Amino acid sequence: MSIFDSLYNAATDISSLDSFLKRNITNIADFCSENVETQKIELDKFEYFVLFKTSVIKDLDYSKSYNRAFVYYLVEYCERFCSTSAIVQLYQIIQDNNLNIGSRLDAAMLYLYNTPSNDVFVERFEEICAKLQIAINEEDDDDKKSIASFLNYYSYVIYNTSQDFAQKLQSKYTIALENKNLPFLKNNLIRESLSLDIQDSGNTYQTIQANIDKILGKKESGDIISYITNDDFLIETSTNYAELLKKVSPKFQAIRDISVKQFNQYENQNDIFYSLGRGVKILNEDAQLYSYINSYGNMHEAKMLSALQYLPLDELYCKNIEIFDWACGQGLASTILFEYINNHKSNLNIRRVVLIEPSEIALKRAALHVRHFDSQCEIKTVLKDIDSVQFADIQSNTNAIKIHLFSNILDVDGFSLEHLISLVEQTQKGNNYFVCVSPYITDAKTARIDEFVQHFANNYNSYKTYYEVENQKGDWKNNWTRVVRVFKVNL
Ligand SMILES: C[S@@+](CC[C@H](N)C(=O)[O-])C[C@H]1O[C@@H](n2cnc3c(N)ncnc32)[C@H](O)[C@@H]1O
Repeated sequence: MSIFDSLYNAATDISSLDSFLKRNITNIADFCSENVETQKIELDKFEYFVLFKTSVIKDLDYSKSYNRAFVYYLVEYCERFCSTSAIVQLYQIIQDNNLNIGSRLDAAMLYLYNTPSNDVFVERFEEICAKLQIAINEEDDDDKKSIASFLNYYSYVIYNTSQDFAQKLQSKYTIALENKNLPFLKNNLIRESLSLDIQDSGNTYQTIQANIDKILGKKESGDIISYITNDDFLIETSTNYAELLKKVSPKFQAIRDISVKQFNQYENQNDIFYSLGRGVKILNEDAQLYSYINSYGNMHEAKMLSALQYLPLDELYCKNIEIFDWACGQGLASTILFEYINNHKSNLNIRRVVLIEPSEIALKRAALHVRHFDSQCEIKTVLKDIDSVQFADIQSNTNAIKIHLFSNILDVDGFSLEHLISLVEQTQKGNNYFVCVSPYITDAKTARIDEFVQHFANNYNSYKTYYEVENQKGDWKNNWTRVVRVFKVNL
């Protein structure tokens, strides 16, 4: 049955729609990342569902992250297929419940909602571009969705207005290309699409739509690092950094200081910082490693420590422990955990640390950092992105207690949660503690974290939560944001 038929059937009242969403939000998210043809077939059913079930959707409990994410996915679908009829209903729900759909979909609202004349498409150009650039700089994992949204906006104008308005947009685009604050406009697919002949509007519209599919479907080179099994142990040796590290004590701030000093020696610091892509890019240069710790180190440490306070160390006392640091980067989460344990004079037998990360230079440094904090434990390095990790890569000892560190990764869209859950369930038998920390970015990203947590809460009686908190800008220290989940489960 189609996803919108199922939603329609479930939406007999608020409580049955709520429980359907609780169980199926991952399927809805997966549907929204399907290719455009698969999604488009459902357009009529989507509109029918939204129009006839608004009275149920509007009264959902929006303090629950999966309900907020649901509206986000509906708006995202609306935007992709320019469903102006459904957007009217959704706009009201967003306003009434003060939902944060993110800057990119806010931008889409500007051309899909309340457009009394065609002039507004031209008048709102700057505001739309500014919001899309904010989405790239501060919210999304990369620029693909914002580029697609810009092309959607332009093709919408071509399709629904006369040539005159498309020409005015082209002129504004030429001027905006000079604007240093809007670098996304220089993207080749945007340039190509904006130079197409608008006299042939039908064909131009089709070509731009195909370009949108291309950008949304495409994996950039460097997105996926490794599909092959790599059993070799990787660690950074004989580098200047390794020498500098030897001279400092095993303290997080001491290793941060090295990076800050190294980073300060670079002249093009802004370029290096922007190349980090909010810290989620797979890094391949030393300068990026320094920049990452220089900019994000303190914030990540504060978030991690705010979560570790709730890890029940007494339950781990004298037990054999294995740490799994997922998407470990330079291993900051592991080092902060080591220091926290030392500071609390807790006697934990850390037998093994498994570091999983697709950036080779970051992974090698992570192993070096872990070795600096603990000279005894076994270290395993897995040079892979999460989708490529196989059961054999992360086998664990059933009798050991496993601590899983998910530091700033569960909010990243680029991997399958289903695969991650199956990896954990198949390889981590026994007692598992999960420490999950991420920034608060949008409701949809928080919902992704909660989909992961909720899976264990729904399926295991042994699930126990220790701490859950969510802070947006201004609600926590230093204007930082955080989403923290600490829980345990016996698998
Ligand atoms: C925001 S950083 C977090 C790094 C580290 N956990 C920390 O807290 O400092 C995101 C990390 O995820 C890695 N990454 C990006 N895409 C990934 C994927 N699909 N699977 C696994 N790791 C990924 C990046 O290389 C980067 O090291």
